[in-house]
Order: sequence, then C-alpha cells, then structure tokens
Amino acid sequence: MKVLVTGASGVLGQAVLPRLEQDGQDVRRTSRSARPGWVRADLATGEGLAEAVAGVDAVVHLASATTQYRKAGEVDVAGTRRLATAAERAGVRHLVYVSIVGIDRIPFGYYRHKLAAEKVLQAGPVPWSILRATQFPQLVDERFLPVASRLGVLVADPGITVQLVDPRDVADRIAGLLAAGPSRRVEDFGGPEVRTSEEIVRSWLRATGKRRPVLSLRLPGKTLRAMREGALTTTAQPTGTRTWEEYLAERYKPVRDSQA
Ligand SMILES: NC(=O)c1ccc[n+]([C@@H]2O[C@H](COP(=O)([O-])OP(=O)(O)OC[C@H]3O[C@@H](n4cnc5c(N)ncnc54)[C@H](OP(=O)(O)O)[C@@H]3O)[C@@H](O)[C@H]2O)c1
Repeated sequence: MKVLVTGASGVLGQAVLPRLEQDGQDVRRTSRSARPGWVRADLATGEGLAEAVAGVDAVVHLASATTQYRKAGEVDVAGTRRLATAAERAGVRHLVYVSIVGIDRIPFGYYRHKLAAEKVLQAGPVPWSILRATQFPQLVDERFLPVASRLGVLVADPGITVQLVDPRDVADRIAGLLAAGPSRRVEDFGGPEVRTSEEIVRSWLRATGKRRPVLSLRLPGKTLRAMREGALTTTAQPTGTRTWEEYLAERYKPVRDSQA
C-alpha cells in the first residue's frame, strides 16, 4: 500500500516510519522543510498537499502545531480540512488521525482544536479512523519537566495521574489500523501503567541525575481539575507495553555510561 505520513519528522512519525516499512508499506513522508526524498508540504498554507496525496492509498495524519499552540486553528483544524479535501480529490481510501485521550473533558485550547479536527474528518468524505492516545514519555521528558525544573523546585499535584504510552506502541496500533481499513473512532490507547505525577517526576529526577526538591501541591483551575478526575487516562484495553521507567533507562543509559 502507498501510505503518506504527515508530521513524519515528529516523535510519533519517527516511530511510525520504521514500523510501516517493516510491514512492507511504500511510505511517503512530508515535512515543511526540504529533505531529500520527502515531499515538502505545509498544512497552514496548503502548499504541497496535492503533490503529497497524489497516488496514495492511505494517509497517517500526525502533523500538528504541537509546539506553537496558537497556530493550532490554522494547522490542525483548517490544515486537516485542506488535507482531507486534497485526499478526496486524489481518491485516498483511508485517513488515520491520531488524537489525544481526554480532549473532550479538558478545557485546554490545543485540545479544543484537536476535537475540531476530529469533527472535520468525521464530517468529511474520506473514510477515516481516529485513534486517541495518551501522552508520550518524550513530551514529559523533553518538554514539560525541563521547563518546569527551571523554577528550581518541581511542583507535582498529587491528584493528577497520567498513563504515558510509548510512540512505538502507538505505531504498532496505527499499523493495525492500516491493515484493518477505515474503523471510525477506535478504542482509546494508553500506556501500561497509571501513575501519579509525583512518581513520574521522582523517576525522572533519578534517571537524569538532577537534584530538585519536589513540592506536592494541589493546583487550581478547571484544566487541572479535569486531570485530577482522570481525564488523561483510560481504562481501555489493550494498552501499550513499554513503561516510563523502561523509557528512562533506554534514554539515559548512554549518559550514565559516558559519565562512568
Ligand atoms: N506528544 C504526545 O504526547 C501526544 C499524545 C497523543 C497524541 N499526540 C498527537 O500525535 C500527533 C503527533 O505528535 P508528536 O508528539 O509526534 O508531534 P511532534 O513531535 O511535535 O511533531 C509534529 C509534526 O508536525 C509537523 N508540523 C507542524 N506544523 C506543521 C504544518 N504547518 N504543516 C505540516 N506539518 C507540520 C512537524 O513537521 P516539520 O517540522 O518537519 O514540518 C512535526 O513533524 C499529534 O497530532 C499529536 O496531537 C501526541
């Protein structure tokens, strides 16, 4: 099958590419940057999308304004509409969209845009599958905790639980959806363990060797209340298999070895 992966340079994209190649799929990749062998495409302008979808059987749509939330309306919502229109014209038979567990329960601007993007696909002409996943370890390790730790102290709300899922496990699930064909909204997909934010923080400090006091504090606001009510987790089965501690051991082992 000829499969287009948008957002192929991203965290999930980098797990999805080898997984689809392992299945023998003929994979095309998009990025906004010029890369040899890739199609250059921008969801915010529509540039390159017609070329990206030409001759494609299925699209795995992973591109998103994850680092510039204020652009999510243009990239995730309008951009997904542009992609779906181009895909319909090209005769694409299946569009797989990766969304996020809890977006309908957590009042957060980026999540509202993800929900709107889901609706674009649900109302659109191309047969679709929507998979909602929980957070990836890289998001916590590479974005949230380095920023949060700049304060000198790490604040962890004791009531917030998360269920981090490894992108390689999500990639397996996406490969299964491509094989199954358009499946509409499928079971949510989380990691193997529900953990408190404090456990996540303490494991990260141990693995990275950073020293920060951890302040256990109940934080205000509707977004955090929804998270305390479990909106970032799912009881759906099956789950991924790789744990947060396994991720940390894999990621930080080379650092520890080089310091030894
Ligand atoms: N991270 C998580 O914890 C998590 C959890 C559940 C679901 N998800 C969802 O999974 C998907 C992938 O997430 P991720 O963590 O892999 O994201 P990521 O690493 O931030 O990658 C996002 C990708 O989107 C592309 N992109 C951004 N703006 C674009 C635009 N205007 N036009 C075309 N491409 C654009 C970027 O490609 P270039 O820079 O190469 O153009 C990049 O490869 C997203 O839809 C996200 O909402 C993420």
